Amino acid sequence: MDSATLMDLANTYGAHNYKPLPVVIEHAEGVFMWDCEGRRYLDFLSCYSAISHGHRHPRLVKAAHDQMDKVTVTSRAFHSTELGPFFQELCAYTGTQMVLPMNSGAEAIETALKAARKWAYQVKRIPRHDAEIIVCSDNFHGRTVTCVSLSTEPLYRDDFGPFTPGFRVIPYGDVAALEAAITPNTAAFLVEPIQGEAGVILPPDGYLAKVRDICTKANVLLIADEIQTGFGRTGKRFACEHEGVQPDLMTLGKALGGGIYPVSAVAGRRDVLGLFVPGEHGSTFGGNPLACAIAREALRVLDDEKLVERSAELGAWLLQRLGAIQSPHIKEVRGRGLFIGMVLHKEAGGARRFCEALMGRGLLCKETHDDVIRFAPPLTITKDQLEWAAGQVAEVMIEM
Ligand SMILES: Cc1ncc(COP(=O)(O)O)c(C=O)c1O
Repeated sequence: MDSATLMDLANTYGAHNYKPLPVVIEHAEGVFMWDCEGRRYLDFLSCYSAISHGHRHPRLVKAAHDQMDKVTVTSRAFHSTELGPFFQELCAYTGTQMVLPMNSGAEAIETALKAARKWAYQVKRIPRHDAEIIVCSDNFHGRTVTCVSLSTEPLYRDDFGPFTPGFRVIPYGDVAALEAAITPNTAAFLVEPIQGEAGVILPPDGYLAKVRDICTKANVLLIADEIQTGFGRTGKRFACEHEGVQPDLMTLGKALGGGIYPVSAVAGRRDVLGLFVPGEHGSTFGGNPLACAIAREALRVLDDEKLVERSAELGAWLLQRLGAIQSPHIKEVRGRGLFIGMVLHKEAGGARRFCEALMGRGLLCKETHDDVIRFAPPLTITKDQLEWAAGQVAEVMIEM
């Protein structure tokens, strides 16, 4: 079938909860994707950071095949040979003590919120069902009812209430607001170290370190949502590391699955995650042997191919290169590692038309909100490929 027919089928039978660019991907390898007509595109979005290892990394495909030939899904009713080593290796990679596996990012967030509430009642002795969790404006933590309950974006919320209670919203990057919002009933502060979906928004320097300090002093758990920023995307293993911060809980997803399988987790303190007792929480597919085998190999590939270091080095170059483009449309270019947002002026007419023009040149990226183009290529990208991509962006921004 050709691309037009396939898009028509998707539009006719699928709910319209996405507005994809008009391209139908037929196959992909490394940093490239091909459409049904054989046109090649460089992937500059990486499935919102899930494809940090590149498409179909041979070692990850092999790990998946090998595991598929043994056992794929067991449920947590039984142990599997992959589970314990996965937990141990993820703890070592994250510098944490315990792991609880899930599948999607939103499930990891739900899990972290439940863990924080449980800790609040069992350890901090907040009266049952009075616990509060502080979150930031313009956050993005997922799409479940609870995740949209803590959102401030009308598009994500309108028509989806009633909402889960127990959350307080403060401005992002504002330590005074955090201090003022903490009460004796505060269980946790949930924060993205860099806000991705909001448009790659970096908090002021020193923010995370101060947040860590405030949370420690107030006996409030710091939950860092590293689902999009984790595993090298920002040039460190985790974005919190830029300020030497170790959160109490971290939510992980996307790149943890090596770009070939959904794997998420909460990793953190034993005295928090260790409070769960059998039956209180779980997931049919969470921690299945196939997921664990792929995630274990994904962690090894990050180290073996020095993808974190590559992200830091190539990201610094890309930020500088994109920042030097002289175009009346560009308001600001910001980011860290290979996680960059190009903010356009309102008069530019929206980021979408630029993404469409880049698609026509073989570069796939996506607008976030109306005015930001997010650039997040696979961390396996080469300097030559980056140079070509940056050249395309420059030409489009100048010509249009
Ligand atoms: C920071 C952050 N948290 C949570 C999520 C939700 O992850 P998922 O779409 O896998 O549920 C995302 C997804 O973009 C995210 O960027």
